[in-house]
Amino acid sequence: MKRLAIVGSTGSIGKQTLEVIKKMRDHKVVALSCGHNFSLFKDQLLDYKPEYAAAIRDTGELKRDFPEITFFSGVEGIKEMLEAANPDVVVNSASGAVGLRYSLKALEVSKRLCLANKESLVCGGKLLVKRAAEKGVEIIPVDSEHSGIFQLMHGEEERPEKIFITASGGALRDYPLVKIENALLEEVLKHPTWSMGNRITIDSATMVNKGLEVIEAHYLFDYEEKNILTYICRNSFIHGGVIYKDGVIKMHLGKPDMKIPIAYALSYPARKYQADYMDITEMSLSLEKVDYKRYPALELAREIVGIPSKQIAYNAADEIAVKYFERGAINFGGIFKLIKRVVELIPEGEPRDFDEIIEIDRYSRELAKKEVAKLW
Ligand SMILES: NC(=O)c1ccc[n+]([C@@H]2O[C@H](COP(=O)([O-])OP(=O)(O)OC[C@H]3O[C@@H](n4cnc5c(N)ncnc54)[C@H](OP(=O)(O)O)[C@@H]3O)[C@@H](O)[C@H]2O)c1
Repeated sequence: MKRLAIVGSTGSIGKQTLEVIKKMRDHKVVALSCGHNFSLFKDQLLDYKPEYAAAIRDTGELKRDFPEITFFSGVEGIKEMLEAANPDVVVNSASGAVGLRYSLKALEVSKRLCLANKESLVCGGKLLVKRAAEKGVEIIPVDSEHSGIFQLMHGEEERPEKIFITASGGALRDYPLVKIENALLEEVLKHPTWSMGNRITIDSATMVNKGLEVIEAHYLFDYEEKNILTYICRNSFIHGGVIYKDGVIKMHLGKPDMKIPIAYALSYPARKYQADYMDITEMSLSLEKVDYKRYPALELAREIVGIPSKQIAYNAADEIAVKYFERGAINFGGIFKLIKRVVELIPEGEPRDFDEIIEIDRYSRELAKKEVAKLW
């Protein structure tokens, strides 16, 4: 049994990881962490009985209820939990740039990082990939598109000339352009194909998520922006593809179900997960071009691929903008306006180390909060 730690077990990916573990019976859950959702976390602790647990919130009340578990609190506490648990595998399914801290710790203490937290690569891609290579730790993508490409490349001698990832187009893909600006939160949260956490669902409607994924692909697979294509696949059956110099295109198909890429990341190179597969005659397989008038945030992300300071700013401004949109403080169109403004204000640069990454992230968030006041 492999020893498994999950960071962000109460989130959408975290919960599905636990479902996969129950089915595959190949991993022992030794550490779990959450942010603030103690009611679900308590059920998970009862069910999986990890040796170690942590939360962003103070874990004092949990210590009383679960005396046999060693608890930690705060961001540093989650890192200490990973250190103490000594896991073989870490699933990083925390949301946000903070995830980079857990990814770097996972590289120190484990042999495999199953990476859902794309912000780790967006903010610290070079550092993370370099450190993983130095430590001999595998980074296996959990994002369905990247998992698809990873699987397509596995065992091939030749590198594809181009790779592509798909997007559903999000909840507003058929809205009249003039209405998008003021789309309501409940409309934006109605994702047409995937069931996910709030931020990523909102990010699907703006295609910030696809922007982050283009950057993620740049670092994971070492492709220039121009060779990472993006298409809309309305039913999300096609996740990604690779294009070879001889004209051959290979595509990765399957149900839009995150448990499948999660299971693959855990069991790679084996396939141990059992799931229903689709009747291929009932799959409509088609790809559409992305219209940047509808999704300007994707075009902006493409312009900043490989410029780390601006990538960090893009993500940080989006994290802030999404929170403002959820609270009703800005309209949907305001998310892109705010990101664009912050990305413009942050100078081009390459952070020299982790501390500089954190500083650019902090400053971008500060700028985003100031700019909100100016723009609205
Ligand atoms: N959802 C998907 O289908 C999907 C697909 C591909 C990639 N991803 C990526 O996977 C990551 C997680 O997405 P998600 O949709 O699962 O998010 P989510 O549902 O919002 O869950 C986030 C998890 O992180 C925890 N958390 C919040 N703040 C934290 C902090 N400061 N430190 C540590 N943990 C913290 C949350 O805890 P509490 O809830 O207890 O506060 C929760 O367990 C994101 O990077 C996302 O882009 C998600």
